[in-house]
Amino acid sequence: MSKVILVTGANSGIGFELTRLLAERGHTVYLGARNPVAGQEARDKLHANGIKGVKFVELDVTKLTTIVAAKEVIQKAEGRLDVLVNNAGISLMDQPQAPSTVDLAIVREAFEPNFFGLIQTTTTLLPLIRAAPNGVILNVSTDMASNTLQARPEAGLHFAAYNTSKAAANSYTIALSHDLRKQGIKVNAVTPGYTSTKLNSFGEGGKSVKAGAEILLPWALLDKDGPTGLFIDEHGKESPW
Ligand SMILES: NC(=O)c1ccc[n+]([C@@H]2O[C@H](COP(=O)([O-])OP(=O)(O)OC[C@H]3O[C@@H](n4cnc5c(N)ncnc54)[C@H](OP(=O)(O)O)[C@@H]3O)[C@@H](O)[C@H]2O)c1
Repeated sequence: MSKVILVTGANSGIGFELTRLLAERGHTVYLGARNPVAGQEARDKLHANGIKGVKFVELDVTKLTTIVAAKEVIQKAEGRLDVLVNNAGISLMDQPQAPSTVDLAIVREAFEPNFFGLIQTTTTLLPLIRAAPNGVILNVSTDMASNTLQARPEAGLHFAAYNTSKAAANSYTIALSHDLRKQGIKVNAVTPGYTSTKLNSFGEGGKSVKAGAEILLPWALLDKDGPTGLFIDEHGKESPW
C-alpha cells in the first residue's frame, strides 16, 4: 500500500536521500524544509531524475505556524499521515561544546530543533497520524545520544549541546512509545551511524548519505506488527538507550 510520509529537514543529507528511497518505492513523500528555495530545489532535483510523488512543504520545526500550515496542507490533500520521520537536526559541532565550559546559548540553540522542535512537530501532526491505519513515528537519533554508550570509559565525542539534545529526544521517544502503544502507533529511534553530511562538515570516513538513509528505510516502512519503543543502531540491531 502506498503510504503518505513526511520527512523533516529533507532538503539535504540523509533526509533528502530517504525521501528519494521512499518515493522510488511509490510512496507519497512530503519533503519538509525550512528554507523554501532549498526545499523546492531539492524536490525539482528528484523530479528531474524521474522520481515522482515528492511534494515540497515548508516546515521549520522551531516555528509552530509552519508546522500547523504543513499539517493543513497534508490534511487537505491526503486526510492522513502514515509516517512521520523526525529527521531535522543541527549539531553545532563548529562551536565549542566542551562540557565544562560550554556556552548555555549553544545548548539552548541545539535543543530548539533537536528536542523542542521534534516534540512540537510530533504533537501537532499526531491527529493526522491517528487517522492512518498503521501510524509510524521514526526519530532520527545518533550513537552519541546513548547514555549507556557515552558513559563507557573509552567513549569520546562528548559534545555537550548536541549529545544532550539528542539524548533528551531519545527519552521523549521512550515516553511517546508507551503513550501510543495501545493505539498501535509505532515510535522508534534509529541512528544512521556516522555519515558524511553538512552536519559534520562532510567529515572524512563517514558512510554515504544513501547508505545512511538505507538504515532508516525499514523503520519508516514498518508494518502493523512491527516493534515499538526501540533504539536501533546502524546495523539494525537494538542499541542500549
Ligand atoms: N551525519 C551523521 O553522521 C549523523 C549521525 C547520526 C545522526 N544524524 C542525524 O541525522 C539527521 C539528519 O542530519 P544530516 O546528517 O543529514 O545533516 P544535514 O544534511 O545538515 O541535514 C539536516 C537537515 O535538518 C534541517 N534543519 C535544521 N534545522 C531545522 C529546522 N529548524 N527546521 C527544519 N529543518 C531543519 C537542515 O536544513 P537546512 O539545510 O536549512 O540547514 C537539513 O535539511 C539529524 O537529525 C542528525 O542528528 C546524523
